[in-house]
Amino acid sequence: MNIPTVDLTDLSSNDPARLARSAEAIRHAFGTFGLVYLKNHGVDADALTRFYDAFRAFVARPLDAKRPYGRADLWYQRGWTPPNTEVAVAGNGQPDFKECYFAAPLPTDEDSRVEFPQIYPDNIWPDDAPPYFQEGLLTLGRSLHDAGLSLLRGAAVALGLPPTAFTALCDRAPHVTRALQYLPLGPSQVNTGILWGEEHTDFNLLTLLPGGRFLDPEGRPAPQPDARSGLYLRTRATPSEPSGKLVQGAAPPGCIVAQVGQQLEILTGGTFLATPHVITAPGVPGWQRQSAAHFMHVHTSTLLFPLPPLRTPAAIRSYAPPVLAGTYDIKTLVDIGLAPPSALDQLGYRHYDRLNRMRAEAASA
Ligand SMILES: [Fe+2]
Repeated sequence: MNIPTVDLTDLSSNDPARLARSAEAIRHAFGTFGLVYLKNHGVDADALTRFYDAFRAFVARPLDAKRPYGRADLWYQRGWTPPNTEVAVAGNGQPDFKECYFAAPLPTDEDSRVEFPQIYPDNIWPDDAPPYFQEGLLTLGRSLHDAGLSLLRGAAVALGLPPTAFTALCDRAPHVTRALQYLPLGPSQVNTGILWGEEHTDFNLLTLLPGGRFLDPEGRPAPQPDARSGLYLRTRATPSEPSGKLVQGAAPPGCIVAQVGQQLEILTGGTFLATPHVITAPGVPGWQRQSAAHFMHVHTSTLLFPLPPLRTPAAIRSYAPPVLAGTYDIKTLVDIGLAPPSALDQLGYRHYDRLNRMRAEAASA
């Protein structure tokens, strides 16, 4: 059960053997694990460490100092996500033990902001941010995005699609980069089954994970305290393994991780799979973990349905009805607790009361 590694320089080469090798690795990795390791990805490890130092300083501030950046009105799509906010759709209702910060690292579609104000807002930053907080998060997001675009071109070719089949849908889309800090469990909480991140699938197109680090109970970066904490994913179900297999997603040194999201699963008719994954906490109290993720999305105006060559009768049955990506985003943000349930009222006709109001006007005239 080895998760393949793709060398991004293979994808940019013109060598047929290297291209064929990476296409095969992508098909196997995304078809079975929903996850691939990337090397020669262009993400600067020293810059990542500097950013984690800055983010640690922000998280260490008192809750009241962070509260102005927790924007429920933006469905937390920018700025700070307080602890105990986000929940997994299929979880037990226990919110994740984490604090996060969201920013869009690239210009997004100004016109679409009118249609989806909470999905395309301006970035917000702490007034007195720690040094390298803003630049570090943006730099990280842009380098992960470039790696993701290369991989998406390779993934399209691996399926016999035009190289731009996926990347063309990413133009000015609402991509977001998120810094995460998983919070320390107390002595009575460890080994009770409490998870740092409940099992879920990502709802976006492709997620890039640059790798994280642990903080010891004094808040200092330190090696992993035990073998049980980390990212685990559930492989595709097969007749002999109907629950899939739980596999640890630990990238080889120097590699980053790319994960299939629901949008990519839908567009490929299930050929690539958004696999459930979980972040388990260590069995010792007081430890934290810092990590980051860049979530690549398709543009909100994209129709989410299997692309024509992959639109088999089985794929149509699995992914019907076709849905606008922006609508899908709203539904999911409600499901995971970031948008209020009232946001769903926007997905259909909203003027049922108009006739009654008009009749009332007529009666009172
Ligand atoms: Fe995830």
